[in-house]
Amino acid sequence: MAKRVLIKFSGEALANEDGHGIDSKILKFIASQIKPLVDSGVEVGLVVGGGNIIRGVNASKEGIIKRSSGDYMGMLATVINAVALQEALEYFGLAARVQSAIEMNEICEPFIVRRAIRHLEKGRIVIFAAGTGNPFFTTDTAATLRAIEIGSEMIIKATKVDGVYDKDPNKYPDAKKIPRLTYDEALQDNIKVMDDTAIALAKDNSLPIIVCNMFEEGNLYDIIVNQNYEKCSIVSDKKESE
Ligand code: GTP
Repeated sequence: MAKRVLIKFSGEALANEDGHGIDSKILKFIASQIKPLVDSGVEVGLVVGGGNIIRGVNASKEGIIKRSSGDYMGMLATVINAVALQEALEYFGLAARVQSAIEMNEICEPFIVRRAIRHLEKGRIVIFAAGTGNPFFTTDTAATLRAIEIGSEMIIKATKVDGVYDKDPNKYPDAKKIPRLTYDEALQDNIKVMDDTAIALAKDNSLPIIVCNMFEEGNLYDIIVNQNYEKCSIVSDKKESE
């Protein structure tokens, strides 16, 4: 069983059927998937994106909003999602703390790594919000950075697909799943598990990246507690499991 993990959820996945806002059903589902992990003694850090509310890159596309401002708007979106997730976790009787990379003391704690680690040691879930606090970085990079800072054994990218494919499985029915790949393979254009900055950071620190489907019941438990890696893809230094 992994002792400490960082799970990154996409903001987009929190959205209602129309692609916007926050769907309480999904919040409840996520919390229900986290609870058994915490009950088993796993220390859980979370990062959630903000794509259900706003994406910095898209917001700045028309040239009115500067990219840096768009990115700050995106960081604020992640705080909204983090607060929602905190409520959902508490609804399930779990202890959770939101820490933001940009201070907003009335809403949540500031990010202090030593404090985050104490929370984790006490069995609390820490949700890291506001990305890295800087524009031009993605929440995937923020999640990788936080995973390394808190000494997580792996970063789990919980998405809508069950692993890494050689091409987009939603577009190409003949797309093949790649169960294990190296960081260099993950950097290739057709793969792009995460953005280059996030993968390079993971590579430099030998942090395994696990890509799995967040909507499959029991999947996170299977991977993190049972160490069953059948329904995911792993990016690490080694190609084959040893
Ligand atoms: P311990 O040190 O183990 O007692 O941790 P704790 O987080 O329970 O204690 P603390 O008294 O620091 O925090 C109590 C509550 O206040 C928790 O829900 C924290 O998330 C919250 N809190 C702490 N610092 C801040 C802050 O700067 N801003 C906001 N908004 N909430 C905070």
